[in-house]
Amino acid sequence: MAENIVLLGSTGSIGVQTLEVARNLGIRVSALTAYSNIDLLERQAKEFRPRMVSVFDKTLAAELKNRLAGLGTEVLSGPEGNRAAVGIDGVDTVVAAIVGIAGLIPTIEAIRNGRNVALANKETLVTAGRIVMAEAERRGVKVFPIDSEHSAIYQCLAGNRKQDAERLLLTASGGPFRGKKYHELTGVTAAQALEHPTWNMGSKITIDSATLMNKGLEVIEARWLFGFTPDKIRVLVHPQSIIHSMVEYRDGSVIAQLGQPDMRIPIQLALTWPERRSANFSRLDLLKCGPLTFEEPDMETFRCLRLAYDALEAGGTMPTVLNGANEAAVKLFLEGRIGFCDIPRLIEEAMLTHDVNTSPELDDIIETDRWVKRMVGESICI
Ligand SMILES: NC(=O)c1ccc[n+]([C@@H]2O[C@H](COP(=O)([O-])OP(=O)(O)OC[C@H]3O[C@@H](n4cnc5c(N)ncnc54)[C@H](OP(=O)(O)O)[C@@H]3O)[C@@H](O)[C@H]2O)c1
Repeated sequence: MAENIVLLGSTGSIGVQTLEVARNLGIRVSALTAYSNIDLLERQAKEFRPRMVSVFDKTLAAELKNRLAGLGTEVLSGPEGNRAAVGIDGVDTVVAAIVGIAGLIPTIEAIRNGRNVALANKETLVTAGRIVMAEAERRGVKVFPIDSEHSAIYQCLAGNRKQDAERLLLTASGGPFRGKKYHELTGVTAAQALEHPTWNMGSKITIDSATLMNKGLEVIEARWLFGFTPDKIRVLVHPQSIIHSMVEYRDGSVIAQLGQPDMRIPIQLALTWPERRSANFSRLDLLKCGPLTFEEPDMETFRCLRLAYDALEAGGTMPTVLNGANEAAVKLFLEGRIGFCDIPRLIEEAMLTHDVNTSPELDDIIETDRWVKRMVGESICI
């Protein structure tokens, strides 16, 4: 079990729930990092008394330093803050809960420092899965998924031979627009897209769930975590979000993991595996949860899922283009500058423009991400 953690992205949805788990289990928290929310970071630091906190914005870091004077907590900022946090002595596990590709470098640095990673930041594997998993293997560190679907698959594979598994069945809630057709989505507002039917999450992943890009990113994440090719990863829409994912074996058995949609369950498991600790999280009552249903995803309407499969097939830097264009487009949509259906359009345009580098290094991935974000930004100014 993890005994001493660093939490990257402590003020977000996953970050706050991780601290609840850490509080319940008595896990020591050595560092907390965030982008700009110093009010919450201050409260968290005063409760958990970490050795270090870091806030990305330098001016806010100076303000936080004043507020934490006398606490004995070092206050850092910028990329150096995240880097220093993942290098603190005595830490066994880094919880990677930053949103977006901003989480990539600190997560790789955590692995290079020999820390196990409890991974929520799926964009790390989407953009650099090959590099990250190879590095983890070289350093002998564990990358345990926090994403509920991947946590489910991890559990469904445990105790079985991987070569006996035929397919991964990733479940998707379908988001708030399940059943709608493309022409019904053109006027959708950010407020409507932020109304997720079953999960309560940060704004970027909630929009990704509405476009089904979240499932696309998870297909790519599953490819790198479990080593299955895209044709062996099937998405099933399961609106109740009770079955978190399944593995289909060659004898016809399908093993599923079930539970209430409560992220504290997979977060705790990532910190205790293979042990399971008692917890007062939401319990599943099978007599009350109603019928469990399944549908094919509609990839004509929700084109982001199709684009994610295409990016995975193309390989190299293409998933980085998919991810970067998506991050840029979601930001523009949340700002009210583009429509919901512009999100897949901008991503597809970026992918069509891109010449794939088939064996990118980390620098190429960062450069590709910068290029695509610039391009998406410029394309809406024309
Ligand atoms: N939420 C879920 O239920 C869920 C489930 C599965 C997977 N995930 C994945 O987990 C990750 C986090 O999701 P979320 O929903 O928790 O996001 P969120 O609520 O938006 O939180 C993001 C966190 O990252 C911090 N952050 C952003 N840029 C940073 C930087 N450069 N350095 C340090 N911290 C930075 C934010 O700080 P500020 O608060 O200061 O901005 C915040 O603490 C995403 O990759 C998401 O796909 C989330």
